[in-house]
Amino acid sequence: MESMVLTPRLACLAALVPQGARLADVGTDHGKLPISLLLEGRIAYAIGSDIGVGPLAHAALNAREHGVTLPLRRAPGLDAVRPSECDTVSIAGMGGQTIAQILQNAPWTRAGAHLLLLQPMTMVYELRQWLWAHGYAIEQEAVCREDRRRYVVLSVRGGAPAKEVPLAQCVVSPALLRAPGAADYLQQLLTREMRAKAGLERAKTHSADRLAAQNALVQAIRQALEECK
Ligand SMILES: C[S@@+](CC[C@H](N)C(=O)[O-])C[C@H]1O[C@@H](n2cnc3c(N)ncnc32)[C@H](O)[C@@H]1O
Repeated sequence: MESMVLTPRLACLAALVPQGARLADVGTDHGKLPISLLLEGRIAYAIGSDIGVGPLAHAALNAREHGVTLPLRRAPGLDAVRPSECDTVSIAGMGGQTIAQILQNAPWTRAGAHLLLLQPMTMVYELRQWLWAHGYAIEQEAVCREDRRRYVVLSVRGGAPAKEVPLAQCVVSPALLRAPGAADYLQQLLTREMRAKAGLERAKTHSADRLAAQNALVQAIRQALEECK
């Protein structure tokens, strides 16, 4: 059977899926992640879920062409997945706020029975802050590079004590500091946040609070980079 080649971003997430997992892939779109894992015999079973009709048709076609069974559900987030159907949930290629909303709407993800593999495209600090505030532990992070952009994948489990962490301290987690490639990722973040800081400084009407918050982000990334050395 023809294999399904994953881009580095999805390959990075796939590497964190435990052998024999029962996977629910939310926002599956083309279905490439579960199809690839099924073809490799890495997982026992997968459900693909998506909010859109077009993506599910694409996933169905890909599954058929590759001869794998991929049950598909049309619903927002985890609304059409029962907790007993999976032990691992992947949510990739969405904004951090959407990922947090999906977990918020599925309180069973908070119990700690499921491994959650999250790959945010944006608002990564906000996602870490939300996870910590709602009793999820970030057990592992992986960094990958696709084209010129670097991404993180968070391996998360519920069942932890909730903790309030200021946003500036959410630019990094202890797990990210342990990840190979963290220094390059943080350097890219630093460049981006320095640029945002310079933009704020140039703006005639910037608020002092906004600039102070931006300075705190830059400072936290610099400190994290020092820790990576
Ligand atoms: C950019 S694609 C990502 C596809 C794949 N997961 C990846 O990382 O390559 C985002 C997919 O998520 C779906 N999506 C967006 N919001 C969603 C939600 N709240 N619940 C389920 N699916 C959603 C979209 O329809 C789209 O197919």
